[in-house]
Amino acid sequence: MAEVPVNTARRRFLTGSAVAVGAVGAGFATVPFLSSFEPSARAEAAGAPVDVAVGKLAAGQMVTVAWRGQPIYVVHRTPKMIETLPSLDQQLADPNSKVASQQPKFADNFYRARKQEFLVLIGVCTHLGCAPTYRPEVAPKDLGPEWMGGFFCPCHGSKFDLAGRVYKGVPAPTNLYVPEYIFASDDLIRIGVAEKQA
Ligand code: FES
Repeated sequence: MAEVPVNTARRRFLTGSAVAVGAVGAGFATVPFLSSFEPSARAEAAGAPVDVAVGKLAAGQMVTVAWRGQPIYVVHRTPKMIETLPSLDQQLADPNSKVASQQPKFADNFYRARKQEFLVLIGVCTHLGCAPTYRPEVAPKDLGPEWMGGFFCPCHGSKFDLAGRVYKGVPAPTNLYVPEYIFASDDLIRIGVAEKQA
């Protein structure tokens, strides 16, 4: 996958203003950095792969870590979230992840992941590089009754579903990037390592 250039999201991320927080349901529940952030930040500074412990990441929540100066979003999708993915095809620009540059081969599917319950994305909008906001709630007032949860970019209004797939008719041209990663164990995701390198 082509490396994502330095951009607005990266700058915001590095200054700390765009670090996402876990959020469940209709309201956002701000949480402190999860413990995975600190070692991730150190590893990120060295350009190394980054481990994300997901064993305690509750269903519906997202954690953000840094990898190569970019925000990486890791979402523990609920069964309900996974169920909604196939129903959105008509509204999406690339529902089956056919644009090969946006994900490794293993994520060339509708859920865009190695395991359906865990979504891993580079949190950089494919329009002009802002950091999309995690909006898991269904039909919030500001996003309308059709909204089934996903990511909303506050800069110019691009919308992505809970697999990072871009909606039709928004400024962003492609799905959010899925980085290379592996499961080092059942509850440990290693960002930045391809399976053949493990
Ligand atoms: S940067 Fe996200 S919509 Fe423009």
